[in-house]
Amino acid sequence: MNFSLQKIVKYCDNFTTSQPRHLYELERETNLKTLAPQMLSGHYQGQILQMFSKMMRPERILEIGTFTGYATQCLAAGLVEGGKVHTIEANEELRYIIENGFKKAGVSNKIQLHIGNAKEIIPTLTDIFDIVFIDAGKTDYATYFDLVINKVRSGGLILADNVLWSGKVVMENHDKDTRALHEFNQKVHNDDRVENSILPIRDGIMMIVKK
Ligand SMILES: C[S@@+](CC[C@H](N)C(=O)[O-])C[C@H]1O[C@@H](n2cnc3c(N)ncnc32)[C@H](O)[C@@H]1O
Repeated sequence: MNFSLQKIVKYCDNFTTSQPRHLYELERETNLKTLAPQMLSGHYQGQILQMFSKMMRPERILEIGTFTGYATQCLAAGLVEGGKVHTIEANEELRYIIENGFKKAGVSNKIQLHIGNAKEIIPTLTDIFDIVFIDAGKTDYATYFDLVINKVRSGGLILADNVLWSGKVVMENHDKDTRALHEFNQKVHNDDRVENSILPIRDGIMMIVKK
């Protein structure tokens, strides 16, 4: 079969529900004001996260790695009345864009932003989560998994982004991040407490359901 992956990606994007104005503006602001805007989930993946959340109807969500809050807002869209997203971001300088985005979208009351190191903040959280989205430092994915697994309810969903790392996980001579992601994928796959599957969406999303 001969096809262009780029064309397929564009086609999927074209036939995905359009993003609302506030997310379009947040994506533009992220492109204009941040150094690595490609970290943002964006329209296609954001819509998938939103649909997962709407199907799960969660009360509690945890996001590890907020960046400018794009995925946070997508995940918040599925919350039940009174539900809450906890999102953790290490970079204090992103606070203004994040909080301004939540205000514009009218979701500030549903989201608690924690500024600091996720490895220190997660142990202080007492909620039990329906959904966890792991999307911060790649060498720490295994640590995040260990820190959250007992804070996820049975039937709860853990999603981990970038697990294919631009395809580098199937190449030889892994660099530090690639090796860590490959080891994370192996660790999850060998863990009897969960079921898992890798979705080849964008940079690869590991979908994990706690038994
Ligand atoms: C890929 S971006 C997150 C993108 C966002 N989830 C989205 O989909 O739009 C990763 C973020 O994790 C943050 N980060 C990295 N290590 C962290 C840590 N140990 N604790 C909290 N945040 C961290 C980075 O500053 C960066 O903003």
